[in-house]
Amino acid sequence: ESFGSMNVVWHKCSVEKSDRQEMLQQKGCVIWITGLSGSGKSTVACALTRVLHARGKLTYVLDGDNVRHGLNADLTFKPEDRAENIRRIGEVAKLFADAGVICIVSAISPYRKDRDSCRSMLPDGDFIEVFMDIPLCVCEARDPKGLYKLARAGKIKGFTGIDDPYEAPLNSELVLHQDGEVCPPPEAMAEKVISYLESKG
Ligand code: PPS
Repeated sequence: ESFGSMNVVWHKCSVEKSDRQEMLQQKGCVIWITGLSGSGKSTVACALTRVLHARGKLTYVLDGDNVRHGLNADLTFKPEDRAENIRRIGEVAKLFADAGVICIVSAISPYRKDRDSCRSMLPDGDFIEVFMDIPLCVCEARDPKGLYKLARAGKIKGFTGIDDPYEAPLNSELVLHQDGEVCPPPEAMAEKVISYLESKG
């Protein structure tokens, strides 16, 4: 039993998820974008939210980097803190989905176990894992924040893909990858996600 659940009973309200979804004319869900630093998670998340918003859908992006400025400002990048980072993001995403919102998460979320436990918090079909399958060498060549360089120089310890593992999804709903040597523009990747959502109604 977790500490927080002791002697606490769930309080149910008469306005439910289905009522909110009907009002919004959409289905609340979590689109979970995982991948290496520099793989384009945030860019695709932004492109996706832009397109869905333009189509009249209520969306919200939870970006690992941004959440670490507030809710998760107390967490480092050691494995147990990454796990807690993902657990909290998963819980918040679940609340958004319950509110009827299409919640787009972009976080490295390197450990399979942590992603899978977020998946298990949601009803079947409401957690859509999108794997940014971009090779490490491409992410490292981009190095938008210069962090790979620092990690290679030993100035950042435990950097994902360098000296901390990235466990690629085995059964994600969607894999976004390069087209040969070329990476499709973020809008094209966002369209793939939208096609998937449409195919699932
Ligand atoms: S995690 O692993 O899911 O908890 O990471 P996340 O919350 O998504 O934060 C990733 C961003 O933090 C920066 N950063 C690091 N990434 C990986 N490893 C280490 N050690 C590290 N230190 C700082 C990095 O800029 C990540 O940003 P993105 O947007 O992924 O490039």
